[in-house]
Amino acid sequence: MTFFKNIPSWQLPETAVTSETLYGDRRRFLKSLIGAGIGATATTLLGCQTSQAQSNDLESTFKLPEIKPLPTNPDFRRVDRPITNQTLASSYNNFYEFGGDKSIWRSAQNLPTENWKVEVTGLVKNPRTYDLDGLRKEFSLEERIYRFRCVEAWSMALPWVGFPMKDLMAAVEPTSAAKFVRFTSFYDSKITTGPGFHVGTLPWPYQEGLRLEEMANELAFFAIGIYGRELPKQHGAPIRMVLPWKYGFKGAKSIVKIEFVDQQPATYWNTLIPHEYGFMANVDPTKPHPRWSQAREKFIGNTEQFDWEIRETLPYNGYGEYVANLYA
Ligand code: MTE
Repeated sequence: MTFFKNIPSWQLPETAVTSETLYGDRRRFLKSLIGAGIGATATTLLGCQTSQAQSNDLESTFKLPEIKPLPTNPDFRRVDRPITNQTLASSYNNFYEFGGDKSIWRSAQNLPTENWKVEVTGLVKNPRTYDLDGLRKEFSLEERIYRFRCVEAWSMALPWVGFPMKDLMAAVEPTSAAKFVRFTSFYDSKITTGPGFHVGTLPWPYQEGLRLEEMANELAFFAIGIYGRELPKQHGAPIRMVLPWKYGFKGAKSIVKIEFVDQQPATYWNTLIPHEYGFMANVDPTKPHPRWSQAREKFIGNTEQFDWEIRETLPYNGYGEYVANLYA
């Protein structure tokens, strides 16, 4: 791996799942953007292992207020695997605004979530700006346990709390001209300063997009919580996208703007590396990433340590019955 001095104990042999060490690839790419010779940040070198002192701090980041009541949609009450241990899920994150490695949970605490506003605009009959209370009052919250599959070939199972995206669509009423939706994450270069070597080279803010009918699908979800409590900052507080049939990078975090548009919007990873990260990005075991296979994945389950379990990747991450018709 490019940036790690020692191979951490949780890391699989590189041959176990892929021919590449996925963990380092995107960071390697980001580094290549600005040329060799620029060192990794100190946090990058810390790697993923969480010391005892850190783990106490970590818990304080997810002991947030509970969200109740939680009527659970019966379709999503359980999955075919254990729910991922929260300490692992909340300390192994991708949030490039706060750093180029998985250990951004501490720096993500700088995200200012007070008085959060989400603007819903563009080709809609009822443009709205919601604060968090407004969202919670207007939309019925439920818990959904979804499989979560990162394009880097690791996976989790996570209990999100939130509401279906289609409920928000019903409230704002897209016009017949709306064909796509652009989602924009929070960005302020004074706060979202990581990875340290990127300044001026990356297409911030992080943006993602969906076709209108994808957003209207039953599965498409806005999460404002996880594990029965408000969303920790490292998971994209206070509101993020969850699209379980797509690779995780489609699920933009810390959303500030939702725009209904008539053209396919430019998106962050697709702009950076179009031949590696497509706009559609549906989980597909038969379609390898240019640098690694997607046939299998390393599942992070309900264990204390990173005991990666190798599993077969499921088409559409196991959600074909809900979404395959969108791509017929
Ligand atoms: N959203 C923003 N704004 N910035 C990011 O770097 N990373 C994406 C996605 N959403 C990312 C983002 C990727 S690559 C993944 S796999 C998931 O967030 C990770 O979500 P998690 O950290 O909650 O597991």
